[in-house]
Amino acid sequence: MTTPIGVYISESQIAKRVKELAELINRDYADQEIILVCILNGSFIFCADLMRAITVNVQVEFISVSSYHGAVSTGDIQFRLDVKQSLVGKNIIIVEDIVDTGLTLSFLLEHLRTKRPNSLRLCSLLLKKARLKTPVHVDYLGFDIEDKFVIGYGLDYDGRYRELPYIGVYGES
Ligand code: IMP
Ligand code: MG
Repeated sequence: MTTPIGVYISESQIAKRVKELAELINRDYADQEIILVCILNGSFIFCADLMRAITVNVQVEFISVSSYHGAVSTGDIQFRLDVKQSLVGKNIIIVEDIVDTGLTLSFLLEHLRTKRPNSLRLCSLLLKKARLKTPVHVDYLGFDIEDKFVIGYGLDYDGRYRELPYIGVYGES
């Protein structure tokens, strides 16, 4: 039996903010084409919802890196999967679930810059500003949150809780 997880950011708050982010993207990229680069696994639900609210010409690619063991960030990033198409001259938006230390994102921004896109921006559902170890600019941010370990809406603790439709704090009921 698992203990119930309390609501930190509700399903309706998430839906409203995702729609607002998509509207900003639709406005900024009017008449242009974009490629969302979804960072697996945590971002798959956010990216799917965001993509369905985007009205400009949009494609999706996936990247998988791993830097976490339980709830502690190591900064030791391992590459598992890279994008499948050329990004030369393309408008890229990285879609991330959460920026914590920022180490994963600074690594990924650097990596994607070498693929010579026309533009490269970052969209993250969550940011723990107090935890940043390296400066990372989030162009499209959902919520700036406290230094708590959150789960749900794609975010996991050791692979669990991704299916929660809301965001909760691990260990808080
Ligand atoms: P960073 O490199 O420290 O910014 O870590 C980013 C990655 O760590 C995110 O993409 C998440 O997969 C994971 N992560 C960081 N904080 C949390 C959290 O509170 N809950 C779940 N995953 C987290
Ligand atoms: Mg992630």
